[in-house]
Amino acid sequence: MLGKDLLGLQGVSREDITKILDTAESMKVVVTSENKRTPHLQGKSIVTLFYENSTRTRMSFELACKYMGAASANMSASTSSVAKGETLVDTGQTLDMMGVDVIIMRHPMSGAPHLLAKHVKASVVNAGDGMHEHPTQALLDMMTIREKLGDIVGKKVAILGDALHSRVARSNAIGLTTMGAEVYYAGPATLMPPEFEKLGVRTTYNKREALEDADVVMGLRIQRERQKAGLFPSIREYASFFGISLSDLKWAKPNAIIMHPGPMNRGAEISTYAADCEASVIREQVQNGVAVRMALLYMLTRKGR
Ligand code: CP
Repeated sequence: MLGKDLLGLQGVSREDITKILDTAESMKVVVTSENKRTPHLQGKSIVTLFYENSTRTRMSFELACKYMGAASANMSASTSSVAKGETLVDTGQTLDMMGVDVIIMRHPMSGAPHLLAKHVKASVVNAGDGMHEHPTQALLDMMTIREKLGDIVGKKVAILGDALHSRVARSNAIGLTTMGAEVYYAGPATLMPPEFEKLGVRTTYNKREALEDADVVMGLRIQRERQKAGLFPSIREYASFFGISLSDLKWAKPNAIIMHPGPMNRGAEISTYAADCEASVIREQVQNGVAVRMALLYMLTRKGR
């Protein structure tokens, strides 16, 4: 059973993930219909609190709230009293007193949503915390894999690029292994966290080893905002050794799909040809993002959960 909050996929069972994905499948019918309206969140109040930029995550949560009839509001750190020095806990408790049921938060500090969750009555959803976790991205990735390939169990997923700074990499390592996938990470040694193998994934510095017979080829964004200088010699070299290009698909299975959480640095971690080819499901990932977030908000706000 889901608890009060969703702070990460660590500790979330295969059964719970399956229930979220099953519910998201039903919600997708709403997202793709002419009449995007359901009463699932009627009477609920939801706030998005973003201390970092976002297009996909913030918009999909906001649209999920609107499609399901919640009273929703957005609070950005730069225009709120946070800019006057108000603490995160004071901000959360202020929202609590206004009757907010769910706070969806993105923050540059790993662990910030965990701190907030301890001090508020509202459910807290982690929409990305520093280099730690981005659980709803991994859930929408898993929904997309299941939808396109029929199942996650036994599928080989090759994830290329900057695993060190990527919260998407961490949540996918946890989520995909929980669901029974075989997960390989390939990237430069400077961007490969040594503790990653403890999460049950394989790591390599050789792109081909990760890609051979892969069912899924996923690129990770180069996290320039979190990187120090000198972690790889040049973008051109990075693209050649760890970027996804169309020619790399010859090593993967013939029906392999290409994924990327976005936003993409075209020409760096993924070529334009690979991003826009028939095997690419990057746009479907965005659509599934709305469905997954609808499912999650519904499940967190249901009495008895
Ligand atoms: N994938 C993802 O988190 O994208 P945004 O930063 O646009 O939300």
